[in-house]
Amino acid sequence: MTSTDIAESTTTGVHVSGLTKSFKSPQGPVHAVRGIDLRIDVGETVALLGPNGAGKSTTIDMVLGLTKPDAGRIELFGRAPADAIAAGSVGGMLQVGGVIPDLNVRELLDMMASLYPNPLGVTEVVELCRIDDLVGRKTTKLSGGQTQRLRFAIALIANPDLLILDEPTVAMDVEARRQFWTTMRQFATRGKTVIFATHYLEEADEYADRIILMARGSVVADGPATEIKAHVGLRTIRATLPGADVAALATLPGVTNVDTRGEAVILNCSDSDTALRALLPAYPTARDIEVTGAGLEEAFLQLTGDETEEAA
Ligand SMILES: Nc1ncnc2c1ncn2[C@@H]1O[C@H](COP(=O)(O)OP(=O)(O)OP(=O)(O)O)[C@@H](O)[C@H]1O
Ligand SMILES: [Mg+2]
Repeated sequence: MTSTDIAESTTTGVHVSGLTKSFKSPQGPVHAVRGIDLRIDVGETVALLGPNGAGKSTTIDMVLGLTKPDAGRIELFGRAPADAIAAGSVGGMLQVGGVIPDLNVRELLDMMASLYPNPLGVTEVVELCRIDDLVGRKTTKLSGGQTQRLRFAIALIANPDLLILDEPTVAMDVEARRQFWTTMRQFATRGKTVIFATHYLEEADEYADRIILMARGSVVADGPATEIKAHVGLRTIRATLPGADVAALATLPGVTNVDTRGEAVILNCSDSDTALRALLPAYPTARDIEVTGAGLEEAFLQLTGDETEEAA
């Protein structure tokens, strides 16, 4: 290794180039991942966001060495994935898969810890993941959300430098979800690199330094949440306004698009302050007015396009 290789390997955690994967299906090939390039720095927390079938899990499975790419290269901390994984540098939490039965939670964690060179202590992981109440329970007797918490603990036990989580909060209730993200952030502040796949726009917005938006096997946007939001209208005004004239509303200053849901109107705005100032005098009967920010949902829908194009 030359000194430049070393310099690169200390800053680049995940380097993916030209990554491609198709699956056979009776209807012909499914192009799950169509040649993606990514560079994720050590210490970054990145959300992989995208609709069903975007290729998130396929990408994650290839990075974890579970699916063989048709083409492309993957390096984790400057090493081949198999080497990084064997060294315990990678912890994964997959979208599917169970936990080993016939063991209780502590026994399973002890066993997993014994597989790695520098594991975290089981007690530390139990504390971090707040599963003290579960340690004596059989792994098969856990609820869906409890199983998710255990799987998170298993992903952490190797004390990995890279944590890859595929829809980690599925099946968790609001409280478990909040605790999960607190733990994830705590772990990330130890200089860890984290990649998580999610459908939850708020989660990506709130917990990731950067969002990689995937659709139909490609990366359609990559940047901080604020940058992705800037692609489209920034705020939405909702109001109850029976019998509203949609065409007239669309001409209000600051309004880019108008939609209706029953008696409610939804105004997408490039400038919601201006739009609201114009709306109220023109429509004094408007009520239940809400202005919401976080236009990520909008950005998501616009950037990922019409999902009915999927088959093409
Ligand atoms: N083993 C497989 N055999 C055939 N097709 C597959 C296989 N795995 C994935 N696919 C297809 O590849 C595409 C991408 O799937 P993938 O699971 O990567 O999407 P995803 O972004 O993780 O979606 P979700 O949000 O639903 O988890 C989909 O069209 C899916 O049907
Ligand atoms: Mg998936």
